[in-house]
Amino acid sequence: MSGTALRIDGNEAAARLRARVAQAAAKFAALTGRKPGLAVILVGDDPASHVYVRSKLQRAAEVGIVSNVMRFPSGVSEAEILGQIAAWNAADDVDGILVQLPLPDHVNTLRVMAAIDPDKDVDGLHALNAGKVSQNATALVPCTPLGCLMLIKQVTPDLTGMNAVVLGSSNIVGKPMAALLLAERATVTVAHIHTRDTPFLCRGADILVTAVGKPGLVRPDWVKPRAIVIDVGINRVQDPASGKFRIVGDVDPSAAQVAGALTPVPGGVGPMTIACLLLNTLQAAGSTARLAPATLGLADDPINQAA
Ligand code: GUN
Repeated sequence: MSGTALRIDGNEAAARLRARVAQAAAKFAALTGRKPGLAVILVGDDPASHVYVRSKLQRAAEVGIVSNVMRFPSGVSEAEILGQIAAWNAADDVDGILVQLPLPDHVNTLRVMAAIDPDKDVDGLHALNAGKVSQNATALVPCTPLGCLMLIKQVTPDLTGMNAVVLGSSNIVGKPMAALLLAERATVTVAHIHTRDTPFLCRGADILVTAVGKPGLVRPDWVKPRAIVIDVGINRVQDPASGKFRIVGDVDPSAAQVAGALTPVPGGVGPMTIACLLLNTLQAAGSTARLAPATLGLADDPINQAA
């Protein structure tokens, strides 16, 4: 049997969203006399982080956002990072601040996140934004879960009463994803490393979001027929035959025979994460310049932006 699931095209959805952000950036520049600004901190030499930051900067430039990156060696002190954040918090031409994760072990990630002005926190990782998301208040929403929700709502606009299972309970994906699905009136279960019988839970999921980082974890027999499956995994694996490396998700590709809709890896959630970062930068720029989102052609509620 060949795969029958609808392939949810993240490249296409991200391109549409970037076009909206580019229009908003042009309006912002016309109204304020400057382009929106994004400032990025990159610590150490993790190859994946360097690839992600390069993509973010390139996409930012394409939509008319000016970016500035500060690269620190892995031995940088927490105080130096906090000093850079304080300078950008005070800078009128910096609308968004992003600290690429992970940080080295000697740096306290929560303290670094807490130092970012919540109005410039375009990754949505400050505790104030996390709290607002869990209270259904307007906030800067973490980019990956925001992108996942946009892709889910593209397939099923109304999630009321659906069973959603999130695999992974990180601050960056699992927890905010669960909060967003709850706000959409789904019944949400978060499974993690200590969860008993995760496959059983998954089989009850109308919506399954996996953010674990284990290639092929989600087998076809974990998937409820016609479920929407969102694969956040980005895993680099070596093909035993060719020896070449490629990127795969957490979902075994044969799950497409059971699911109703599935995001591919690559080309699913990844491009939406970056497009949502650009959207958040425009939302932040608009609010610091006291421009209503509608003035920039953006929705008040970022979750419904891509619809
Ligand atoms: N590391 C992996 N994903 C992300 C992300 O979305 N934001 C940041 N800041 N770091 C990451």
